Amino acid sequence: MIAYFNGDFLEKDEITISPDDRGFLFADGLYEVIRSYRGKLFRAQDHIERLNYGAGRLCLETRDFSYLEQVAQDLLKKNELKGDATVYFQITRGTAPRGHAFPDPPPAPTVFCTAALLDPTQTMDSRENGIQVITVADTRWAGCDIKTTALTANVLANQEAVEKGAKEALFVRDGVVMEGTHSNFFAVADGCLVTAPASNYILHGITRKVVLELADAKGVKVNQAPVFTSGLPRITEAFITGTTTEITPVISIDGIPVGTGTPGPVTRTIQDGFLDLIMDKDAPFIENTK
Ligand code: PDD
Repeated sequence: MIAYFNGDFLEKDEITISPDDRGFLFADGLYEVIRSYRGKLFRAQDHIERLNYGAGRLCLETRDFSYLEQVAQDLLKKNELKGDATVYFQITRGTAPRGHAFPDPPPAPTVFCTAALLDPTQTMDSRENGIQVITVADTRWAGCDIKTTALTANVLANQEAVEKGAKEALFVRDGVVMEGTHSNFFAVADGCLVTAPASNYILHGITRKVVLELADAKGVKVNQAPVFTSGLPRITEAFITGTTTEITPVISIDGIPVGTGTPGPVTRTIQDGFLDLIMDKDAPFIENTK
C-alpha cells in the first residue's frame, strides 16, 4: 500500500514517525476521512475546508492544505482503488522536544495520508435495517468542531456501546443529544427533521451538510434545534450520518424502540436522495483491483 508522508509517496510500512512527534505526545493534530465512490472523491473540498479551518484553530505553521485533494486522488490511482475506498489524512504540529507550548521555532507539520479499500457490503445490514444506540454523558471539551485526533472520550463511549450490544453512543450534554462518537444525529418529530445546531459542541459533519441540502431539495422540513433526551419518547424516527456511516437508521436508543422500531419514511427519503448523489448511474461499476 502506497501512502503519502511529508511530500513523498512511500510504501506505508516504510514510513517512520518520530516519538517526539506532537501527535504522539499530545494528540496535537487533526484528521480527516474522505470517502470515494467508484474512484471519485465525495465532497473533497468540504473536507479540505474543514481541515484548513482546524489548522487555523490549532495555529499550525501551515494552514492551507488544499494540495491534499490532489494527494488523495494520487493515492487512489497509485493503489488502484477504482471502487469504494476511504482516504485518511492526519496532520500534527510536527516534531519537537516535549513541552506544552508551541515549539519555537515552529516545526513543519507532519502530514500523513493513506487510502484503504472499503467494502460497503459490511455495513449494508446497518443501513438497511438500522442500528441500536446508547446515550452517554458528553465528557468532551468545548472544541468539538475541530476534528482533532484527541478522541479518548469517543473511543471509550464507542467501546461502551459495543459492550452493550449497540453500534454507536450518542453524547448527551445538559440533557441535549449532541452527536455520536463518529457521526451526527438526526431525529424526526412531528414530521420535521431535527438536529443539533452547528456549534462548538459538535463536528460540523459534511454528511450532515449533505442531508440538510437533500431535505431542502425534497421538501422535508428541518429544525436545527436541541434534541432533548426528555423528548426522545416522542420522536418517530432517528438516524446518524457520517462519511463511512452514510445515512444509518437508528431503531432503538438505550433499548427503547424509536417509533415503530424500524427505519421510517423520512429516513428512507434521505437515504434514497443520498444514493442518487453518490451513484453516477451512467458509469459502469468498476471493481477494486486490490
Ligand atoms: N467521523 N461527529 C463526529 C464526532 C465524527 O467523528 C464524525 C466523522 C462525524 C461525521 O462527520 P462527516 O459527515 O464529515 O464524516 C460527526 C469520521 C468519519 C471518523 O472518525 O472516522
